[in-house]
Amino acid sequence: MDSLYEKLGGEDAVNSAVNIFYRKVLKDETISQFFNDTDMNKQIAKQKAFLTMAFGGPNNYTGMDMRKAHAPLVKKGLNESHFNAVAGHLQATLEELGVAADLVKEVMVVAGSTHDDILGL
Ligand code: HEM
Repeated sequence: MDSLYEKLGGEDAVNSAVNIFYRKVLKDETISQFFNDTDMNKQIAKQKAFLTMAFGGPNNYTGMDMRKAHAPLVKKGLNESHFNAVAGHLQATLEELGVAADLVKEVMVVAGSTHDDILGL
């Protein structure tokens, strides 16, 4: 069976989604402050590699695990509402790109699986 990565449209689809996703994240004043000191070109590349792996595509992710990567943000107050805002931007991005509803659901399950690690729970 095709992986979620392949069903979404592979590298081009993930690249477009991540680019649009971070445009939305940076425009959202409830969460953009977390990225003030972030090199967004590097962040976009890491997120592309992470999601590619998480969706069952090629594993070229060399970044930190989700708990470690977000621990400094939890110290700065990262909480449920921030997580939900980010998840919402991911969902809206996929919907805008015309991804089928059942695949959007699958992506949101993958994103949801990171919830406890991201929030340090
Ligand atoms: C669906 C949930 C999320 C996923 C899959 C995710 C994914 C990632 C990945 C792959 C990295 C790179 C780790 C590394 O540097 O090695 C990262 C770092 C980061 N994430 Fe997330 N993230 C999520 C949620 C969030 C949320 C809710 C926020 C804040 C609103 C956030 C803000 C950041 C920031 C600021 C960094 C560090 C960037 C830097 O190094 O300056 N992330 N995330």
